[in-house]
Amino acid sequence: MLQPGRDLALITGASSGIGAEIARQLAGRGIDLILTARRRERLEELAGQLTHRSPHAPREENISRSEMATVSVIECDLNTPDGPDRLLAALAERNLAPTVLINNAGFGYFDLFLEQPRDEIEAMISVNLRAATILARELGEQMARRKHGYILNVASYAALAPIPRYAVYSGAKAYLVAWTQALAHELKKSGVRVSVICPGFTRTEFHAVARHEKTRLMRMIELTPEQVARAAIRGLERGQLVIVPGWWYKLNAAALRLLPRSWVAAMSARAVK
Ligand SMILES: NC(=O)c1ccc[n+]([C@@H]2O[C@H](COP(=O)([O-])OP(=O)(O)OC[C@H]3O[C@@H](n4cnc5c(N)ncnc54)[C@H](OP(=O)(O)O)[C@@H]3O)[C@@H](O)[C@H]2O)c1
Repeated sequence: MLQPGRDLALITGASSGIGAEIARQLAGRGIDLILTARRRERLEELAGQLTHRSPHAPREENISRSEMATVSVIECDLNTPDGPDRLLAALAERNLAPTVLINNAGFGYFDLFLEQPRDEIEAMISVNLRAATILARELGEQMARRKHGYILNVASYAALAPIPRYAVYSGAKAYLVAWTQALAHELKKSGVRVSVICPGFTRTEFHAVARHEKTRLMRMIELTPEQVARAAIRGLERGQLVIVPGWWYKLNAAALRLLPRSWVAAMSARAVK
């Protein structure tokens, strides 16, 4: 179980959606937090809601009252070659050693692969996959040395059911699932727990960012960020390897395993367009 006073959670992509909700739920349990994303104002607003700013705190930090969590804010663009290393350097500079890494930052771009701009494709790989891998490599090593830690990778249902027009996004998220499964085996006796969550359509800013108008079906089966965050924290604490929130998605994930992948791709294409 995560414990106030012992655990410190770094949440990437904490400025909105699922990341912000995981922050709220962890702060509600008194877990200290480090919030990171590009939109600093959003992070500071959230940190302000979760804590009370101390007049003596440096600009980057919102220090709590004793009964509440301490929340630090680090602005960082993970879509730059040195983004993940700059984030790691900022943590070291402030003597912050996370025991929980929530690799949540991510986005998709909805379009035919051959019509997607190259920079969007590269950014999807950088943020969804490269940054998550680098952060887990460096922070995972520190956790293993202390024999205590948790890593949660936020993948997607798109990793389990490849979605045309989200081809690169689906591929990047499928990487997160396979990588987590292998890593969990390697770290079995290390004291570091590793999980991956595969949420289905969730009501966040994701689809606006992806330039994707939701279909009626998508709206019908949409999850809330609260549901996803709750499942993520519960699964992480229980040591669940692959977390699929929501009964509709659980049932479908099981059924999909029995179907040829070409059928699954054709069904997914219909569901999103
Ligand atoms: N919503 C869904 O239907 C759904 C389904 C399955 C999986 N997911 C996954 O859930 C995770 C959270 O997404 P969400 O649904 O909560 O969407 P969201 O509301 O758009 O949140 C995405 C977060 O990622 C951050 N981010 C994006 N690009 C970044 C960059 N270059 N550097 C640093 N941070 C960056 C954003 O912060 P800034 O813009 O402030 O940088 C934001 O905080 C993502 O990994 C997404 O792929 C979402």
